[in-house]
Amino acid sequence: MTVTPWEVSGEIDYEKLIEKFGTEHITKSLINKISMLAGENHFHLRRKVFFSHRALDWILDMYENGSKFVLYTGRGPSGDTHIGHIVPWVFTKFLQDKFDAKLYFQLTDDEKFLINPSISGKKALNLTYENALDVIAVGFDQRKTYIISDMEHAGPMYNIAIRIAKHVTGSTAKAVFGFTDSSNIGIQFFPAIQATPCFIESILQGHNVPCLIPAAIDQDPYWRVSRDIAPKLGFYKPAQIHSRFLPGLGKGGKMSSSMPETCIFLTDSTRQAKKKIMNAFTGGRATVKEQKKLGGNPDICSVYLYEQFLFEPEDIGIKVINEDCRSGKLLCGEHKLKFAEKVEKFLIEHQHKREKARDVVESYLLNSDEVLKCVLKDWEA
Ligand code: TYM
Repeated sequence: MTVTPWEVSGEIDYEKLIEKFGTEHITKSLINKISMLAGENHFHLRRKVFFSHRALDWILDMYENGSKFVLYTGRGPSGDTHIGHIVPWVFTKFLQDKFDAKLYFQLTDDEKFLINPSISGKKALNLTYENALDVIAVGFDQRKTYIISDMEHAGPMYNIAIRIAKHVTGSTAKAVFGFTDSSNIGIQFFPAIQATPCFIESILQGHNVPCLIPAAIDQDPYWRVSRDIAPKLGFYKPAQIHSRFLPGLGKGGKMSSSMPETCIFLTDSTRQAKKKIMNAFTGGRATVKEQKKLGGNPDICSVYLYEQFLFEPEDIGIKVINEDCRSGKLLCGEHKLKFAEKVEKFLIEHQHKREKARDVVESYLLNSDEVLKCVLKDWEA
């Protein structure tokens, strides 16, 4: 398996990833603690959609002792947003609501410009705007969410990033991110930009504020570097909570925009989405007769996984689907039709919210001048 910020492929063994990346399991007692503090046990925790962490116990202890944390997550605008991207956002919204937390949301238009030869600066900025509409449509709190466009907000971002970059050697960047001599120097600097939002709130407040990052585990290399340099700059190490990947509609592999026919995009028409769902890979048998007799296998079924990750939050609902699939009572075609209805309803609602977001997008953007002023003042200190 390969799991890097730019490539996820092969059969993903999450246990091995925990070992390889040196992260920790989210234990039952940690789930109980978040649930106790949040007043709710989120289905992403119960179902191990979020399965691994760094320093989550520390950040919850800090919270219990009166230190509120900020949240930080993001998106690399390489195309339209798909339903896999919103898995961490749904959980981030839960954390924002329950812990009354500010959220920094980074849109890495610079990263996509640097890494993708077919993305011009103009296209990256346009995709940033379009993706920001999806972020807003997920329902983040307007008063507590700060969307960053790296290219638009380059002033404060650059001034923080160079402090970080000064402590990351070329050999560390090569070892962590796999850069080679043919990687352009822009992308080799970029990890410092992705580390930057971890520290914005501490700079604004003039004292250390803990930061928690929910994301799928592909982003972990950035946090290794961020955690390494944080104490050198006098900041707390940022904490992380890692999710698994929502698979594509085909057999195995994560949902990835590079294979559009296996993705449900948030901008797909209901007809397009239904067509893709009806062609999806499931855990069904070769014939209806066989399936009725032997049952299906939800563990390998993309449709079942979408229910589990996003569309069926109720435990009783997911239990019924699981049992009916295994017993042969629920056939794949029938499940696909029912699931397509849920997705159609979701898309109609999301796209409605997305259109309304056009009116408020400005109010979600980071106040770049204010942050730059603080950053420059902090330089003098
Ligand atoms: P990007 O755009 O590749 O992914 C955005 C977010 O979605 C997660 N993700 C998935 N989660 C579940 N199932 C999938 N199939 C799936 N595919 C992607 C990613 O882990 C990520 O959380 N460089 C980043 C942008 C970024 C960022 C951040 C992400 C900047 N700062 C802070 C997370 C946290 C990127 O290109 O993400």
